[in-house]
Amino acid sequence: MVKVGIDKITFHVPHHYVDMVELAKARDIDPNKFLIGIGQEKMAVPTIEEDIVAMAANAANRIVTEEDKELIDQVIFATESGFDFSKSAGTYIHQMLGIQPFAKAYEVKHACYGGTAGLISAFNYVKLNPERKVLVIMSDISRYGLNSGGEATQGAGAIAMLVTANPRILSLDSETLSLTENQFDFWRPSYAEVPYVQGKYSTELYIEMFNTIIEEYAKRYPERLSDLQAISFHLPFTKMGRKCLQSLENKEETNINPELVERWFSHYQDSTFIGRQVGNVYTGSLYLSLMSLLNFDDNLEEGQRIGMFSYGSGAVAELFTGILQPGFKENVSKEGTLLHLNRRVKLDIKAYEENFEKTLSNEDGVIEVVKDKETLHPGFYLDRIDDHRRYYNEITTK
Ligand code: CAA
Repeated sequence: MVKVGIDKITFHVPHHYVDMVELAKARDIDPNKFLIGIGQEKMAVPTIEEDIVAMAANAANRIVTEEDKELIDQVIFATESGFDFSKSAGTYIHQMLGIQPFAKAYEVKHACYGGTAGLISAFNYVKLNPERKVLVIMSDISRYGLNSGGEATQGAGAIAMLVTANPRILSLDSETLSLTENQFDFWRPSYAEVPYVQGKYSTELYIEMFNTIIEEYAKRYPERLSDLQAISFHLPFTKMGRKCLQSLENKEETNINPELVERWFSHYQDSTFIGRQVGNVYTGSLYLSLMSLLNFDDNLEEGQRIGMFSYGSGAVAELFTGILQPGFKENVSKEGTLLHLNRRVKLDIKAYEENFEKTLSNEDGVIEVVKDKETLHPGFYLDRIDDHRRYYNEITTK
């Protein structure tokens, strides 16, 4: 049977960040609450020209070759921070990257779960059409508001992955287990600029749904579960996955062997490396955790099976698995990851607050987004809005 999965994967984060110690001090909070209690060191801050499409294009451009562009049949764009209720963000990417015209581009939404829905859909398509490829993109801006309960769990960024037959990084297994409940833990009605969130409840529900899924998974696929070397989690903040593993440790009645939990714990810290530096990127957060494992966990070996736990408020969760492919380490770049994170510039709290207040008004038909192009970094950016249409440009050299 043909193997299908992730052949290439990369991420893009904005050029600025906030230091969590400085944010804590500005809010009169003990910094250890953010550093240890929540598990965040830096929070990515997008400027106005770094919208979800610009970030996505910058990620995708790094992995898609001219040959890929002819073989890609679908561009799946997952986001929960879309700026258009009708036109898909994928259509911009299709044009900006020059993907062959007969590919389809569409947008997927279910909170932080949307990217996984896109990945599974890509997997199914390539299983049936193993000569073809699918580009899956996740891009989000997590915004709760200045001084809000969720302020420390904001962030922004995009992930791009190419799903193909005979993948070089991770071949996915067909068996997955998902769970849906109609819940109000985090939601954003169409008229709201920031989400409504029941913070504590959202973390409890996440843990509860993880437990329901993993116990059922243990009943349905016991051998597969025992085979899992590590699990990467959706990480709205990096303490979240740790809380799930602790909940397994503390249980009196469970189908999960404590040695397995110990094994998963031993890989956990490495899976949080990028997330700690970036914050929540909503639907891409699980995949930052996966990329952290691939880049920074020196104890993972080819042929080993890893699990991925996806959670999207509202709520849908899914546990799925894959096998690390021979040479997977050569197809991810630890140095590239570090360079990309370290190129960023720190904003002080005043600058972060001023930047936060800059938004594009829905009423404005014509806006030149960036007045001073000299301040821009290489890559795609949102250049202007004209007649309510977004136009992007690219700086190729600095
Ligand atoms: N030193 C060390 N630890 C400290 C500390 C200190 N000085 N002060 C507090 N802490 C610890 C607390 O003990 C607590 O630890 P536990 O969770 O292990 O008990 C932790 O820091 C957080 O403290 P609080 O619960 O008091 O923090 P809070 O009231 O500010 O809420 C939050 C935290 C709920 C995550 C809030 O930031 C929030 O609402 N965020 C947005 C919602 C969210 O991210 N939910 C996650 C699940 S939903 C999801 O996954 C989808 C999605 O992406 C949104």
